[in-house]
Amino acid sequence: MSAGTGAGGGTAPPAAGAPGEAGASTQAQRSPDVVWHAGRLTAEHRAAALGGGGATLWFTGLPASGKSTVAAALEAELVGRGRPAYLLDGDNLRHGLNGDLGFSPEDRAENMRRTAEVARLFADAGVVALVSLVSPYAADRALARSRHGDAGLPFLEVWVSTTLEECERRDPKGLYARARRGELPNLTGVGSPYEAPEHPDIEVTGDEPLEQAVERLLRALGEAGGPT
Ligand SMILES: Nc1ncnc2c1ncn2[C@@H]1O[C@H](COP(=O)(O)OP(=O)(O)OP(=O)(O)O)[C@@H](O)[C@H]1O
Ligand SMILES: [Mg+2]
Repeated sequence: MSAGTGAGGGTAPPAAGAPGEAGASTQAQRSPDVVWHAGRLTAEHRAAALGGGGATLWFTGLPASGKSTVAAALEAELVGRGRPAYLLDGDNLRHGLNGDLGFSPEDRAENMRRTAEVARLFADAGVVALVSLVSPYAADRALARSRHGDAGLPFLEVWVSTTLEECERRDPKGLYARARRGELPNLTGVGSPYEAPEHPDIEVTGDEPLEQAVERLLRALGEAGGPT
């Protein structure tokens, strides 16, 4: 069956804002009269066309723990294998989509919410979204997970658990040094808390060889129903 021509080609239109439906919003909706428009394609149609479905891997950990490094290596491996994958790096998103947000708890929550919504769209489109974002609060990470669960999309929380001491030793951006001098009061791990995941899907430690971590993540992605 070719995508878009099958009987009932698209998803059933959900009630606007109904919990668990694709059109549901995580925030009080300010546009209650807007009705969800169901397209002709489902995520399954797109997966069939692309040769595999999308998924989100969410890398959380202290600044300088290695989130971007591991996520970028995984992105390169996936794309090298012909799988669409895209790194949604927290630092990069703050240059555009999230450029209006700071580091207060409220802004961090909004940063997470927007990023989760973008990742969900990528995953729904058939892409493996690789999010590298400190993501210090468990509640915000849980929301990102539930938004994917609502849509039936695989979501894996990857905790890059490099110790604070090691992160501070690396400090490639000099952020820890600045925080210790009192110039960055909100740096996670110094002036702002990091709530470590209690049940991450995968833990990558600071001393794990990169290739080994990528291999394990590929395997977990396959087991979660995503492409490998
Ligand atoms: N497994 C590793 N072993 C040794 N050094 C590493 C490892 N992974 C990353 N690094 C180094 O640690 C530093 C921080 O890595 P990276 O930028 O990926 O961290 P991050 O978690 O994305 O940080 P941030 O939250 O600030 O974006 C870099 O200099 C990187 O080269
Ligand atoms: Mg990074």
